[in-house]
Amino acid sequence: PSAPHPGGTPRVAVIGGSGFYEFLDDPTTVTVETPWGEPSAPIAVGDVGGRPVAFLPRHGAGHRYPPTQIPYRANIWALKSLGVERILAPCAVGGLQPETQPGTLVVPDQLVDRTTSRVQTYVETGAAHAPFADPYCPELRTALTSAAGEGAIDGGTMVVIEGPRFSTRAESQSYAAAGWTVVNMTGHPEAVLARELGVCYATIALVTDLDAGVSAEESVDQAAVFALFEKHIGRLKTMLGEVVAGLPEGEPGCGCGAWLDDVELSFELPGP
Ligand code: ADE
Repeated sequence: PSAPHPGGTPRVAVIGGSGFYEFLDDPTTVTVETPWGEPSAPIAVGDVGGRPVAFLPRHGAGHRYPPTQIPYRANIWALKSLGVERILAPCAVGGLQPETQPGTLVVPDQLVDRTTSRVQTYVETGAAHAPFADPYCPELRTALTSAAGEGAIDGGTMVVIEGPRFSTRAESQSYAAAGWTVVNMTGHPEAVLARELGVCYATIALVTDLDAGVSAEESVDQAAVFALFEKHIGRLKTMLGEVVAGLPEGEPGCGCGAWLDDVELSFELPGP
């Protein structure tokens, strides 16, 4: 597709999670089709700090897609096809450790995949094994941690479960005992699909609850998650606006896409 916004190609995107249906004032929306079907919703493109930014609500209009059904491949492909080079992905998480109290922001540096029913690649033929030892873009992580400020946790492991149910107490305690920091249902395969297309990706997690393991009395329900997210959404949006406005203008220098120079893909990377 040609540039969808009078301000030019959106090189940065935000994929918003639960309770995050809009990020941009006055956007133009673009409907994008991909070989993997339609993304969760039309992509909104609007201006943030003088540059065009794309926004995609992960769960679609009215939260229509539960975590397992989110069209992850179409979402990342659609953003890349518009020219997006960097994705910031705010999400809601359960806290697994005493220091991850509700309201805390965490910028994880590791991910554990405990999903069971999701396709996590675009590669259907040939050898193209994406490096994923460090699943998040270091440049985007730095931008997020400095904007998140004091009280935010820099680093930590996000375990991604299949859902849609929450974890049992035993599951939650085992994640905590493994030393993992937060738990959610959508952080995978988003991160690896971005890596496969050479798009920088980092997440900023808002702790909405203490899951079921930190103390015997604690357990989580959906109402608590949505209420806490709603309470902090303003803060998160302001912070992300600052991050977007402060990102360097040029191409990323982190090398998230460098691995693609050494492999032969069986498909062509999308682009504007
Ligand atoms: N998202 C928000 N809170 C969560 C929890 N406790 N478990 C999984 N995903 C979540």
